Amino acid sequence: MSMDAIHPRVLGLLGRALSLELTAVQQYMTQASLVGLWGDQASSDRFREETVEELQHAERIVQHMLSLGAAPAASQLQPVTHAPDLRGLLEQNAELEEQLVSHYDEASRFCRVINDQANGAFFQALLEDEQHHMADLEAWLKELGGCRPRGYSRYGEGSGPRRSVLSERASF
Ligand SMILES: [Fe+2]
Ligand SMILES: [Fe+2]
Repeated sequence: MSMDAIHPRVLGLLGRALSLELTAVQQYMTQASLVGLWGDQASSDRFREETVEELQHAERIVQHMLSLGAAPAASQLQPVTHAPDLRGLLEQNAELEEQLVSHYDEASRFCRVINDQANGAFFQALLEDEQHHMADLEAWLKELGGCRPRGYSRYGEGSGPRRSVLSERASF
């Protein structure tokens, strides 16, 4: 569809999508470094992979906006959320992924209402990616069960004076 046929709300939905994706990039990039400081290289690698996936989503949105003749302008980067352990980080990430899922769900439904099939398909593809992220996150949380994973026990409750030192050093 040509630029002058684009509903202005679709451009707003693309801009908000870019803000959410860049928020995810900042959050997962930070977490990759944070859990690296905690000595958890496997989780650090996993967060780094997620950072790249979210960066690729942001890039797809930028390219799509440019193809529509619109200037990409993410305006509301949310601050990185804090948690004292891996499970807490993943729970925060589930909230962010939920925001992404509901945004793309709303955006693709709006495009159906205005019969904008091209943009609807664009949002639908991102919706499916974020739904996969949610499923992966839920599986990861399930792997952790109700307990902290091995290697995190020293950050747990009642583990003595080292905890505060490490918390100060490795948290933010
Ligand atoms: Fe994403
Ligand atoms: Fe995601």
